[in-house]
Amino acid sequence: MSKTTSRHIPIRQLESVLRPIHQASGLGNEFYTDQAYFELERDQVMGKTWACVGFASDLQKNGTVNPVEFMGLPLLLMRNREGLVQVFHNVCSHRGMKLVEAPGEVQGVIRCPYHSWTYDLNGALKGTPHIGGINQHKDERFACEKHGLKPIRSAIWMDMVFVNLSGDAAPLEQMLAPLTERWTQFLGEDGMSLLRRNASGDASTLEVNCNWKLAVENYCEAYHLPWVHPALNTYSRLEDHYNIQFAEHFAGQGSYAYKLSETAGTNLPTFPSWPQDRLRNAEYVAFFPNVLLGIQADHAFAMQLQPIAPGKTIEHLRLFYVGDEAVRDDYAACRSAVLEAWRLVFQEDVASVEGMQKGRASPGYQGGAFSPEMDVPTHYFHQWGARQLLAVARSAEASE
Ligand code: FES
Ligand SMILES: [Fe+2]
Repeated sequence: MSKTTSRHIPIRQLESVLRPIHQASGLGNEFYTDQAYFELERDQVMGKTWACVGFASDLQKNGTVNPVEFMGLPLLLMRNREGLVQVFHNVCSHRGMKLVEAPGEVQGVIRCPYHSWTYDLNGALKGTPHIGGINQHKDERFACEKHGLKPIRSAIWMDMVFVNLSGDAAPLEQMLAPLTERWTQFLGEDGMSLLRRNASGDASTLEVNCNWKLAVENYCEAYHLPWVHPALNTYSRLEDHYNIQFAEHFAGQGSYAYKLSETAGTNLPTFPSWPQDRLRNAEYVAFFPNVLLGIQADHAFAMQLQPIAPGKTIEHLRLFYVGDEAVRDDYAACRSAVLEAWRLVFQEDVASVEGMQKGRASPGYQGGAFSPEMDVPTHYFHQWGARQLLAVARSAEASE
């Protein structure tokens, strides 16, 4: 399907995205509504870089598994007996049954429910009952070692488990370096290592009826603040924000008026390196394609956007605090106040992103327009998307 779809990518429409912002239009409706483009994005855009598929701390104990769906692909996150997290295709090597249906701890081995083939927590095929006939559990014509689970290149950063389906993207660390360098001004050299999450909480999930890109676009701009987030806007006003866009795959916004801790009445520990005269500075940056990050002096958050269908996305939010003490019970009330405040903000965005999705059924809309000042980060994201899709279209053309 991808190949046929690649040949129909609307090249001129994508080129119009790359124009200077005052002349540009955004990505066309089909990129938000069409299943074929959704799969093309999975294989040719998301799949060629690093996409977040879950959180390592959700696999709390060694020897646990967590099946996840990534744009229709069944994947399996596993923490082996030594604590290493790896990702595999969640499919049995025998007749292709989906292997694991529910998260949990594995006693012994992973057993396929169909013919009971078993795998260890590193994906190796261990048992093949009756494969050579009744009571013949081995067969010399069949090499077990060639039929383990199929691994997927993965890496972890800030507790997020990323996969690179194509296997040939630049290392994750290299992709993230421009952001980690930018944030040393707040976190110092080792601030990230202080992040802690209370694994039994500090999490929230929200299902939204919109394409995953609309969640990114909405996150990139502060423009909607006065109308969509009236409470937030009382202390963090439009004029307190600045645009952020850099290194091709990061965009978002910063605020000079972060006061959430005061508003929520919390006194959480702060990063030791955070400049004392900038405690109200906060930054909200999307790491393309599907991660939304936020840092404040007293906590950070990461949101994984899990695209389910062209018009459906699940937002997985995880909050992180500074140092061991911050995740103890003494701070439980502070942490739930912070979580509640963010849940409200993200909930307030739902009507906007769902409204934009509905608007994309209209032939009266063909990518729209951008404010040359307020939509710079949003346009930056569109340009990133258009460049990836144009590269796909051009390589399809070249192979004809
Ligand atoms: S499909 Fe899994 S054992 Fe047959
Ligand atoms: Fe918002």
